[in-house]
Amino acid sequence: MQYKIHSGSWVKLANEAKSIRKAVFIVEQNIPEDEEWDEQDAIALHFVVYDQNSPIATARLLKNNSIGRVAVLEAYRGQGVGRLLMLAIIQQAKNEKRSFFKLSSQVHAIAFYESLGFNTQGTEYLDCHIRHIDMMLNI
Ligand code: COA
Repeated sequence: MQYKIHSGSWVKLANEAKSIRKAVFIVEQNIPEDEEWDEQDAIALHFVVYDQNSPIATARLLKNNSIGRVAVLEAYRGQGVGRLLMLAIIQQAKNEKRSFFKLSSQVHAIAFYESLGFNTQGTEYLDCHIRHIDMMLNI
């Protein structure tokens, strides 16, 4: 397996996570900088996927079982990297005896999360001008 995954605090992984989230959310999706960074980063558990030593994907897991900021660099999409990342988060949560996940999915990513067992909840809403819907997974 050419990819490795590290998890840890913002202090440990901020540089890598920031580089991916800047490229994906701020540059590609035009999300304003002040919406991207919040106080949750300091207390979340962060995950970064590496190709050799190069960070290519990230996500964060909050204390309330919310998964967020899931991002794979464009050049690496459609190759199972996002799935690998989500499976690592799910395994971590199982180790911690967590029993469910929730997330706010961009509508275009519904099928991605459904392929991991998540179900949509309620109706769509706008966040940062992007259509979202809540999704849940019981583990
Ligand atoms: N639409 C439909 N299905 C998708 C999809 C999409 N946009 N992206 C992935 N899938 C499906 C794949 O077909 C695959 O299913 P399969 O195993 O049956 O073939 C499964 O989801 C896993 O795909 P994978 O290759 O691991 O996904 P990825 O590495 O491309 O990552 C995202 C998916 C959504 C994380 C990635 O496209 C991304 O970073 N997008 C930009 C940021 C973003 O929108 N993040 C989500 C915020 S909620």
